[in-house]
Amino acid sequence: MNEVIRLLQNHRSIRKFTEQKLSEEQIEAIIKSAQMASTSSNVQAYSIIGVTDPQMKKELAHLAGDQKYVEECPIFFVFCADLHRIQTACRMREQEMMYQLMEPFIVSTVDAALAAQNAIVAAESMGLGGVYIGGIRNHPGAVSELLQLPPLVYPVFGMCIGYPAQDPLVRPRMRMEAIYHENTYDPGKYEKEIEHYDEVMKEYYIKRSNGKMQTTWSEQMAERFSKPVRAHMRKFLEERGFRFD
Ligand SMILES: Cc1cc2nc3c(=O)[nH]c(=O)nc-3n(C[C@H](O)[C@H](O)[C@H](O)COP(=O)(O)O)c2cc1C
Repeated sequence: MNEVIRLLQNHRSIRKFTEQKLSEEQIEAIIKSAQMASTSSNVQAYSIIGVTDPQMKKELAHLAGDQKYVEECPIFFVFCADLHRIQTACRMREQEMMYQLMEPFIVSTVDAALAAQNAIVAAESMGLGGVYIGGIRNHPGAVSELLQLPPLVYPVFGMCIGYPAQDPLVRPRMRMEAIYHENTYDPGKYEKEIEHYDEVMKEYYIKRSNGKMQTTWSEQMAERFSKPVRAHMRKFLEERGFRFD
């Protein structure tokens, strides 16, 4: 195994941080690495906002469902899907931008996610740790207002980054066979694979919680997908100028 693969396979989300701030060089390394992620047709349809202001982090922590590590991390990055910059380029060329389609929404969201994953890997390679925060989509309007996002920009997720003050277990993933299909898709193996993963996760939770948490992956999924999650997103995105026709 080389160093990059070892780093990738040892990823753990970090939710406790020391007070040590990141240096300007570290922030630059993270952002420039994020920027080098592949991007659909070089559109670079995303923006990253680094929040260090304590009051803003406090508000974002609250808006994300009182996730205190958003306030406690030294820097909270918000990854936004962004068609606003492209619209600016089109205007400079006196061209009306055609964005009333699902496709630019997918492109910009995927671009933001690819940049974010490069960012967290870059951070981890420097001994930092972090966690994605989808919780900012609980109140995406208030988050957008706080960050002064223009139309055609929306916050996809946030990311806490800092020096780890914890050393959590690596969270096991499914067996590779559950995820990887050779040549054609084979759902026939899923029940067996899910049963296996349930056992693995049950043990993991018992270990992680000193016996307090006794649940399985399939139980968690059944609970999570029994009700709508963030049903406000479509209306919010349409208000930001995104279109799905
Ligand atoms: C898009 C996205 C949003 C997430 N949102 C949150 C969040 O709001 N709060 C949190 O504590 N973890 C969040 N996570 C972290 C996941 O729970 C975590 O990555 C997953 O359980 C796997 O654990 P690991 O990262 O430690 O391997 C998010 C992860 C992703 C990719």
